[in-house]
Amino acid sequence: MSRLNQHLLTFAKVLASQAIVFAGFLLFYKLGGRLPLGVPMLLLLQGALAAIIGRLFGLWSFWMPIQLILPLATVYNEVVPGWAYAAAFVASALVFWNGTAEQVPFYMSNRRTFAALSGLLAETKATRAVDLGSGVSGVVTFLARKHPLSLIDGVETAPLLVAISKARVFIGRLANARILYRSLWDVDLGGYDLVYCFLSPVPMPRLYEKAKAEMRPGTLLVSNSFAVPGVAPERVISVDDARQTRLYLYRM
Ligand SMILES: C[S@@+](CC[C@H](N)C(=O)[O-])C[C@H]1O[C@@H](n2cnc3c(N)ncnc32)[C@H](O)[C@@H]1O
Repeated sequence: MSRLNQHLLTFAKVLASQAIVFAGFLLFYKLGGRLPLGVPMLLLLQGALAAIIGRLFGLWSFWMPIQLILPLATVYNEVVPGWAYAAAFVASALVFWNGTAEQVPFYMSNRRTFAALSGLLAETKATRAVDLGSGVSGVVTFLARKHPLSLIDGVETAPLLVAISKARVFIGRLANARILYRSLWDVDLGGYDLVYCFLSPVPMPRLYEKAKAEMRPGTLLVSNSFAVPGVAPERVISVDDARQTRLYLYRM
């Protein structure tokens, strides 16, 4: 599924979950049911139920607070203060930091991909691995938990994502995980047995050149979804997930 379709599917799930709850309320009221709640509380209830349905549809938990306040903000849009929109804008800038300059947006690997990477770590007996552009550290924290004897690094430059990741590593007491607030272009890849990335087509040729120059012979570069143009991967792993993730493996 293309990225655009994935985004459209996400928005469709948000709208569908709100619509399902709304239709349920309409039916309930039509059948004579009444809830002892004022309009604002009803709107919050609508948002809360939609948030739960959204999760059942597979939406990421990030959407839950948005789903919760969506009906209230839509109905009372004139009372939402201006600073709330400014804050939302700043927060999204701190998350989607690399979308424009690096042409790498923020989206996340899923749990089946985590599991496939964990299998690769075991198979290659990698003791040091890095996720270049580690987002909210899903890969890093998963691998650090599964492989307590390996050192797992995450490299990220989006400030809010770095803060969230550092908090996750701290709260999870993951002594074998590190989050580096640094551009992936400034990281020496020579110390890693496995380098993982999930970026975009744009940086792949440059990243492959960097990996070739710095990584030791026999080590692995693993790219989620984006192949290096003109270079045959040693192997392609098809992850059994909804978006049919492909992992491209390049042996140095
Ligand atoms: C598609 S997301 C992948 C997140 C994570 N690796 C995962 O699989 O869940 C790509 C991430 O790379 C980060 N990124 C893009 N360019 C970067 C750079 N030059 N240095 C560090 N991180 C970068 C973005 O901020 C974004 O969080």
